[in-house]
Amino acid sequence: MGKLEGKVAFITGAARGQGRSHAIRLAQEGADIIAVDICKQIDSVAYPMSTPEDLAETVSEVEALDRRIVAAEADVRDRDGLQAAFDAGVAQLGGVDIVLGNAGIAPMGVNVLPNEWDDVVAVNLTGVYNTVEVAKQALIERGGGAIVLTSSTAGINGIGGSQPGGLGYTASKHGVVGLMRSYANSLAEHSIRVNTVHPTGVNTPMVVNDVMQEFLQNDPSLSNAMANALPVPMVEAVDISNAILWLVSDDARYVTGVTLPVDAGFTNKK
Ligand SMILES: NC(=O)c1ccc[n+]([C@@H]2O[C@H](COP(=O)([O-])OP(=O)(O)OC[C@H]3O[C@@H](n4cnc5c(N)ncnc54)[C@H](O)[C@@H]3O)[C@@H](O)[C@H]2O)c1
Repeated sequence: MGKLEGKVAFITGAARGQGRSHAIRLAQEGADIIAVDICKQIDSVAYPMSTPEDLAETVSEVEALDRRIVAAEADVRDRDGLQAAFDAGVAQLGGVDIVLGNAGIAPMGVNVLPNEWDDVVAVNLTGVYNTVEVAKQALIERGGGAIVLTSSTAGINGIGGSQPGGLGYTASKHGVVGLMRSYANSLAEHSIRVNTVHPTGVNTPMVVNDVMQEFLQNDPSLSNAMANALPVPMVEAVDISNAILWLVSDDARYVTGVTLPVDAGFTNKK
Protein backbone atom coordinates (compact mmCIF):
# COMPACT_ATOMS: atom_id res chain seq x y z
CA MET A 1 0.00 0.00 0.00
CA GLY A 2 1.30 3.46 -0.93
CA LYS A 3 1.98 6.21 1.58
CA LEU A 4 -0.73 8.46 0.09
CA GLU A 5 -3.64 6.07 -0.63
CA GLY A 6 -6.93 8.01 -0.72
CA LYS A 7 -5.23 11.41 -0.75
CA VAL A 8 -5.68 14.19 -3.31
CA ALA A 9 -2.84 16.59 -4.18
CA PHE A 10 -3.21 20.00 -5.82
CA ILE A 11 -0.02 20.88 -7.74
CA THR A 12 0.77 24.13 -9.56
CA GLY A 13 3.27 24.19 -12.42
CA ALA A 14 2.51 20.52 -13.07
CA ALA A 15 3.01 20.46 -16.86
CA ARG A 16 6.70 19.60 -16.73
CA GLY A 17 9.88 19.68 -14.64
CA GLN A 18 9.52 19.31 -10.89
CA GLY A 19 5.73 19.72 -10.92
CA ARG A 20 5.30 16.77 -13.28
CA SER A 21 7.75 14.73 -11.23
CA HIS A 22 5.80 15.52 -8.03
CA ALA A 23 2.54 14.48 -9.72
CA ILE A 24 4.04 11.15 -10.79
CA ARG A 25 5.83 10.44 -7.51
CA LEU A 26 2.75 11.20 -5.39
CA ALA A 27 0.55 9.18 -7.76
CA GLN A 28 2.96 6.24 -7.37
CA GLU A 29 2.12 6.39 -3.67
CA GLY A 30 -1.63 6.36 -4.35
CA ALA A 31 -2.58 10.03 -4.60
CA ASP A 32 -5.01 11.50 -7.13
CA ILE A 33 -3.92 14.79 -8.65
CA ILE A 34 -5.34 18.23 -9.42
CA ALA A 35 -2.81 19.70 -11.86
CA VAL A 36 -2.63 23.28 -13.09
CA ASP A 37 -0.15 25.10 -15.30
CA ILE A 38 -0.16 28.29 -17.36
CA CYS A 39 1.00 26.39 -20.51
CA LYS A 40 2.03 29.57 -22.27
CA GLN A 41 4.83 32.10 -22.41
CA ILE A 42 5.35 35.10 -20.13
CA ASP A 43 7.14 37.85 -22.09
CA SER A 44 9.87 38.56 -19.52
CA VAL A 45 10.92 34.89 -19.52
CA ALA A 46 13.48 34.27 -22.25
CA TYR A 47 13.52 30.45 -22.08
CA PRO A 48 10.55 28.48 -23.46
CA MET A 49 7.81 27.83 -20.91
CA SER A 50 5.41 24.90 -20.91
CA THR A 51 2.83 23.96 -23.54
CA PRO A 52 -0.58 22.26 -23.45
CA GLU A 53 1.18 19.14 -24.80
CA ASP A 54 3.41 19.12 -21.70
CA LEU A 55 0.36 19.14 -19.42
CA ALA A 56 -1.24 16.37 -21.51
CA GLU A 57 1.93 14.30 -20.99
CA THR A 58 1.64 14.72 -17.21
CA VAL A 59 -1.98 13.56 -17.45
CA SER A 60 -1.08 10.44 -19.40
CA GLU A 61 1.83 9.57 -17.07
CA VAL A 62 -0.40 9.83 -13.99
CA GLU A 63 -3.21 7.87 -15.66
CA ALA A 64 -0.70 5.18 -16.61
CA LEU A 65 -0.26 4.67 -12.85
CA ASP A 66 -4.01 4.05 -12.58
CA ARG A 67 -4.58 7.25 -10.65
CA ARG A 68 -7.10 9.98 -11.42
CA ILE A 69 -5.97 13.43 -12.52
CA VAL A 70 -7.94 16.61 -13.24
CA ALA A 71 -5.81 19.05 -15.20
CA ALA A 72 -6.48 22.65 -16.23
CA GLU A 73 -4.65 25.55 -17.78
CA ALA A 74 -4.62 28.28 -15.14
CA ASP A 75 -2.32 31.14 -14.19
CA VAL A 76 -1.39 31.31 -10.49
CA ARG A 77 -1.53 35.13 -10.79
CA ASP A 78 -5.25 34.94 -11.61
CA ARG A 79 -6.97 34.13 -8.30
CA ASP A 80 -10.41 33.58 -9.87
CA GLY A 81 -9.12 31.32 -12.65
CA LEU A 82 -7.04 29.35 -10.17
CA GLN A 83 -10.00 29.00 -7.81
CA ALA A 84 -12.17 27.70 -10.66
CA ALA A 85 -9.55 25.11 -11.64
CA PHE A 86 -9.11 24.04 -8.02
CA ASP A 87 -12.86 23.82 -7.38
CA ALA A 88 -13.36 21.70 -10.51
CA GLY A 89 -10.69 19.29 -9.30
CA VAL A 90 -12.12 19.06 -5.79
CA ALA A 91 -15.62 18.50 -7.20
CA GLN A 92 -14.37 15.53 -9.24
CA LEU A 93 -11.93 14.03 -6.75
CA GLY A 94 -13.89 14.64 -3.55
CA GLY A 95 -11.57 16.94 -1.58
CA VAL A 96 -7.93 17.86 -1.12
CA ASP A 97 -5.23 16.84 1.36
CA ILE A 98 -1.97 18.11 -0.13
CA VAL A 99 -1.07 21.44 -1.75
CA LEU A 100 2.19 22.02 -3.62
CA GLY A 101 2.93 25.64 -4.54
CA ASN A 102 5.52 24.79 -7.17
CA ALA A 103 4.89 27.04 -10.21
CA GLY A 104 7.66 29.54 -10.80
CA ILE A 105 9.67 31.51 -13.33
CA ALA A 106 13.31 32.61 -13.47
CA PRO A 107 13.47 35.67 -15.72
CA MET A 108 17.25 35.94 -15.90
CA GLY A 109 19.51 36.38 -18.90
CA VAL A 110 22.32 38.47 -20.31
CA ASN A 111 19.71 40.88 -21.62
CA VAL A 112 17.36 42.47 -19.11
CA LEU A 113 13.76 42.29 -20.36
CA PRO A 114 10.87 44.60 -19.41
CA ASN A 115 8.79 43.66 -16.33
CA GLU A 116 11.18 41.00 -14.99
CA TRP A 117 10.78 42.17 -11.38
CA ASP A 118 7.00 42.57 -11.53
CA ASP A 119 6.45 39.23 -13.25
CA VAL A 120 8.71 37.17 -11.02
CA VAL A 121 7.21 38.59 -7.84
CA ALA A 122 3.68 38.12 -9.23
CA VAL A 123 4.26 34.46 -10.14
CA ASN A 124 6.70 33.27 -7.47
CA LEU A 125 5.27 35.13 -4.48
CA THR A 126 1.71 36.33 -5.15
CA GLY A 127 1.08 33.11 -7.11
CA VAL A 128 2.09 31.00 -4.12
CA TYR A 129 -0.09 33.13 -1.84
CA ASN A 130 -3.01 32.63 -4.26
CA THR A 131 -2.37 28.88 -4.31
CA VAL A 132 -2.68 28.56 -0.55
CA GLU A 133 -5.64 30.93 -0.40
CA VAL A 134 -7.71 29.04 -2.97
CA ALA A 135 -7.10 25.70 -1.20
CA LYS A 136 -7.06 26.69 2.47
CA GLN A 137 -10.77 26.32 3.25
CA ALA A 138 -10.99 22.91 1.56
CA LEU A 139 -8.06 21.66 3.65
CA ILE A 140 -9.72 22.94 6.81
CA GLU A 141 -12.97 21.20 5.85
CA ARG A 142 -11.01 17.98 5.24
CA GLY A 143 -9.78 18.13 8.85
CA GLY A 144 -6.10 18.64 8.08
CA GLY A 145 -3.45 18.35 5.41
CA ALA A 146 0.01 19.31 4.25
CA ILE A 147 1.26 22.24 2.20
CA VAL A 148 4.73 22.45 0.67
CA LEU A 149 5.88 25.66 -0.97
CA THR A 150 8.81 25.48 -3.37
CA SER A 151 11.42 28.06 -2.53
CA SER A 152 15.08 27.72 -3.57
CA THR A 153 18.60 28.04 -2.25
CA ALA A 154 17.87 31.63 -3.35
CA GLY A 155 15.32 31.66 -0.53
CA ILE A 156 18.14 31.20 1.98
CA ASN A 157 21.25 32.83 0.44
CA GLY A 158 21.64 36.21 -1.27
CA ILE A 159 22.47 34.90 -4.75
CA GLY A 160 20.21 37.18 -6.78
CA GLY A 161 22.95 39.15 -8.53
CA SER A 162 22.15 42.73 -9.48
CA GLN A 163 19.55 42.55 -12.24
CA PRO A 164 15.80 42.93 -11.67
CA GLY A 165 14.84 39.34 -12.53
CA GLY A 166 17.48 37.78 -10.30
CA LEU A 167 16.81 40.18 -7.45
CA GLY A 168 13.09 39.55 -7.76
CA TYR A 169 13.67 35.78 -7.88
CA THR A 170 15.67 35.85 -4.66
CA ALA A 171 13.28 38.28 -2.96
CA SER A 172 10.26 36.18 -3.94
CA LYS A 173 11.88 32.94 -2.79
CA HIS A 174 12.69 34.56 0.58
CA GLY A 175 9.11 35.85 0.66
CA VAL A 176 7.76 32.34 0.27
CA VAL A 177 9.50 31.47 3.55
CA GLY A 178 7.61 34.28 5.29
CA LEU A 179 4.35 32.97 3.87
CA MET A 180 5.19 29.45 4.99
CA ARG A 181 6.07 30.52 8.55
CA SER A 182 2.89 32.57 8.90
CA TYR A 183 0.63 29.86 7.47
CA ALA A 184 2.35 27.20 9.60
CA ASN A 185 1.27 29.20 12.65
CA SER A 186 -2.22 30.18 11.53
CA LEU A 187 -3.18 26.76 10.11
CA ALA A 188 -1.67 24.58 12.85
CA GLU A 189 -4.90 24.55 14.88
CA HIS A 190 -6.55 22.91 11.85
CA SER A 191 -3.86 20.19 11.73
CA ILE A 192 -2.48 21.62 8.51
CA ARG A 193 1.31 21.48 8.24
CA VAL A 194 3.22 23.97 6.08
CA ASN A 195 6.86 23.69 5.02
CA THR A 196 9.21 24.91 2.29
CA VAL A 197 11.71 23.01 0.15
CA HIS A 198 14.85 24.72 -1.08
CA PRO A 199 16.34 23.02 -4.15
CA THR A 200 19.76 23.76 -5.54
CA GLY A 201 20.02 23.63 -9.36
CA VAL A 202 17.61 20.99 -10.68
CA ASN A 203 17.78 19.28 -14.06
CA THR A 204 14.64 20.85 -15.58
CA PRO A 205 13.92 23.08 -18.59
CA MET A 206 14.09 26.15 -16.32
CA VAL A 207 17.87 25.92 -16.09
CA VAL A 208 18.79 23.43 -18.82
CA ASN A 209 18.34 25.85 -21.70
CA ASP A 210 20.56 28.10 -23.82
CA VAL A 211 19.47 31.35 -22.17
CA MET A 212 20.35 30.23 -18.64
CA GLN A 213 23.60 28.57 -19.71
CA GLU A 214 24.68 31.77 -21.52
CA PHE A 215 23.76 33.80 -18.42
CA LEU A 216 25.80 31.60 -16.09
CA GLN A 217 28.79 31.35 -18.43
CA ASN A 218 28.79 35.12 -18.90
CA ASP A 219 29.61 35.62 -15.23
CA PRO A 220 32.13 33.08 -13.84
CA SER A 221 31.63 34.40 -10.30
CA LEU A 222 27.99 33.40 -10.61
CA SER A 223 28.73 29.88 -11.84
CA ASN A 224 31.31 29.41 -9.04
CA ALA A 225 28.79 30.69 -6.53
CA MET A 226 26.33 28.12 -7.88
CA ALA A 227 28.60 25.11 -7.18
CA ASN A 228 27.32 22.49 -4.73
CA ALA A 229 29.40 21.00 -1.89
CA LEU A 230 28.67 17.43 -2.97
CA PRO A 231 30.27 16.60 -6.32
CA VAL A 232 27.11 16.88 -8.40
CA PRO A 233 26.34 19.78 -10.75
CA MET A 234 22.57 19.50 -10.42
CA VAL A 235 20.07 17.31 -8.65
CA GLU A 236 17.17 15.55 -10.40
CA ALA A 237 13.51 16.54 -10.10
CA VAL A 238 12.72 13.25 -8.34
CA ASP A 239 15.13 14.19 -5.55
CA ILE A 240 12.85 17.12 -4.74
CA SER A 241 9.75 14.94 -5.19
CA ASN A 242 11.09 12.42 -2.67
CA ALA A 243 11.67 15.15 -0.08
CA ILE A 244 8.17 16.49 -0.71
CA LEU A 245 6.72 12.99 -0.46
CA TRP A 246 8.24 12.68 3.00
CA LEU A 247 7.00 16.13 4.06
CA VAL A 248 3.39 15.43 3.00
CA SER A 249 3.27 11.86 4.34
CA ASP A 250 2.47 10.75 7.88
CA ASP A 251 6.18 10.03 8.33
CA ALA A 252 6.52 13.80 8.86
CA ARG A 253 3.28 14.17 10.83
CA TYR A 254 4.78 16.60 13.36
CA VAL A 255 7.05 18.49 10.96
CA THR A 256 5.79 22.01 10.28
CA GLY A 257 7.34 25.45 9.85
CA VAL A 258 10.53 23.93 8.43
CA THR A 259 12.81 25.15 5.62
CA LEU A 260 14.17 21.94 4.09
CA PRO A 261 17.15 22.31 1.74
CA VAL A 262 17.57 19.65 -0.93
CA ASP A 263 20.74 21.24 -2.11
CA ALA A 264 23.75 18.89 -2.13
CA GLY A 265 25.26 21.00 0.66
CA PHE A 266 24.97 24.31 -1.21
CA THR A 267 23.61 26.54 1.55
CA ASN A 268 25.98 25.14 4.19
CA LYS A 269 29.00 25.97 2.03
CA LYS A 270 31.15 28.99 2.97
N1 LIG B 1 15.28 24.18 -11.73
C1 LIG B 1 15.99 24.70 -10.76
O1 LIG B 1 17.21 24.76 -10.79
C2 LIG B 1 15.29 25.25 -9.53
C3 LIG B 1 16.03 25.46 -8.37
C4 LIG B 1 15.39 25.92 -7.23
C5 LIG B 1 14.04 26.17 -7.25
N2 LIG B 1 13.34 25.98 -8.39
C6 LIG B 1 11.90 26.22 -8.35
O2 LIG B 1 11.22 25.01 -8.59
C7 LIG B 1 9.92 25.28 -9.12
C8 LIG B 1 9.69 24.39 -10.33
O3 LIG B 1 10.56 24.78 -11.37
P1 LIG B 1 11.16 23.75 -12.45
O4 LIG B 1 12.58 23.61 -12.15
O5 LIG B 1 10.31 22.55 -12.51
O6 LIG B 1 11.01 24.65 -13.78
P2 LIG B 1 10.06 24.49 -15.07
O7 LIG B 1 10.17 25.77 -15.80
O8 LIG B 1 10.37 23.24 -15.79
O9 LIG B 1 8.60 24.32 -14.45
C9 LIG B 1 7.88 25.38 -13.91
C10 LIG B 1 6.43 25.23 -14.34
O10 LIG B 1 5.68 26.31 -13.75
C11 LIG B 1 4.78 26.78 -14.76
N3 LIG B 1 4.38 28.16 -14.50
C12 LIG B 1 5.17 29.26 -14.59
N4 LIG B 1 4.45 30.36 -14.36
C13 LIG B 1 3.18 29.94 -14.10
C14 LIG B 1 1.99 30.62 -13.76
N5 LIG B 1 1.94 31.97 -13.71
N6 LIG B 1 0.87 29.90 -13.53
C15 LIG B 1 0.90 28.54 -13.61
N7 LIG B 1 2.01 27.85 -13.94
C16 LIG B 1 3.14 28.55 -14.17
C17 LIG B 1 5.59 26.66 -16.04
O11 LIG B 1 4.77 26.71 -17.19
C18 LIG B 1 6.29 25.33 -15.86
O12 LIG B 1 5.54 24.25 -16.36
C19 LIG B 1 9.90 26.77 -9.42
O13 LIG B 1 9.22 27.44 -8.37
C20 LIG B 1 11.36 27.15 -9.43
O14 LIG B 1 11.56 28.52 -9.12
C21 LIG B 1 13.92 25.51 -9.52
